[in-house]
Amino acid sequence: MFGFLGNRSGSLVEVDIGSSSVKLVALANSGKGFALEAYAIVTFSPNAVVDGNIQDVVEVGEAIEKAVKVAGGKLSSAVTAVPASAVITKIIEMSNAFTELELEDQIKVEADQFIPYPLDEVALDFEVKGAAKSNAKLNEILLVACRKTDVEQREDAVSAAGLSSEIVDVDTFAIERAINIILSDVEDSNVLTGIVDIGASTLTLNVFKGTENIYTREQAFGGNDLTNLISQQYGMNVEEVEQSLRLGELSPEIHDSAVLPFRNTVAQQVSRALQFFYSSGAHGELSALYLSGGTSCIEGLAAQLEEELGLQTQIANPFASMSVNSRVNSERLKRDAQSLVKAAGLALRGLEG
Ligand SMILES: Nc1ncnc2c1ncn2[C@@H]1O[C@H](COP(=O)(O)OP(=O)(O)OP(=O)(O)O)[C@@H](O)[C@H]1O
Ligand SMILES: [Mg+2]
Repeated sequence: MFGFLGNRSGSLVEVDIGSSSVKLVALANSGKGFALEAYAIVTFSPNAVVDGNIQDVVEVGEAIEKAVKVAGGKLSSAVTAVPASAVITKIIEMSNAFTELELEDQIKVEADQFIPYPLDEVALDFEVKGAAKSNAKLNEILLVACRKTDVEQREDAVSAAGLSSEIVDVDTFAIERAINIILSDVEDSNVLTGIVDIGASTLTLNVFKGTENIYTREQAFGGNDLTNLISQQYGMNVEEVEQSLRLGELSPEIHDSAVLPFRNTVAQQVSRALQFFYSSGAHGELSALYLSGGTSCIEGLAAQLEEELGLQTQIANPFASMSVNSRVNSERLKRDAQSLVKAAGLALRGLEG
């Protein structure tokens, strides 16, 4: 390993840096299954992270620091994730006779051929997945590459929080680990399940065949549109709108004239994301759709989608089968669980060792 996907050591914390907040989940493995020990969501101003780029390292760093304090524990280093759109992944096959060092050299040669940037601007890592099906003397190797600047931004925010950064993960891998828990009852490995995350600025559709990720696509759309609309039309500041949305404290008038119409827009965007998926290749029909991300908290969204799409639709809850520490506020968790899917997936990485 070159170290961008990294190795595990010390007391790690995994943070999801979204475009509106930092989210942190602390899980434990009790032997009887996973347990949610603590979590934190700390919001920051809309300009701190734009289009997946960290513009204000100090503000994001402070949010991480605060989240770590809220969640408690003695932590020294952090894991963050780069968005799937910033990453190129490729499975290659290579002789299993190479030593680690030889393999690194070979991989650089291989990577140079499919990465459209100069190699010195690229953070590169790989994972040996096991013997290739075609030839037992070859190993299947997952190559992961992204621009160094994407990794460095996250490392800078983590170090601004006073933590060291050992690992940078990829969004899709985190969602994949989370879906493995959410879909623990999927026995048929051919079943197609979609999970659509609707955040503040991005809508992402991931599709899984069994528990294997086969498709991911991002659209520039999210709850910011609703927040800005309400803020402009009703003269409220953005923070006020955000808080009222989250706590369900908007006036019925604003709810009816802004939130409900926006729910239709969200439904259209989800429908569009599914159309892109179906037109991307010869796929079967999805069996179920899960919703995650803050914007999917809009009341009635799952029911509306289920009816309009004719597709079983439900809210993703990564903690449904976990025990929950009694110091976690269970009412708040009910509201927040679907926003914590990626953070939970990152935390699961820590437990895999
Ligand atoms: N109950 C609610 N109703 C409507 N919108 C909500 C509700 N709760 C949160 N939101 C919206 O969800 C968004 C935040 O969601 P989330 O935390 O998933 O985004 P993020 O991870 O920061 O952003 P992104 O994933 O796009 O980078 C905000 O736009 C917020 O207004
Ligand atoms: Mg997000």
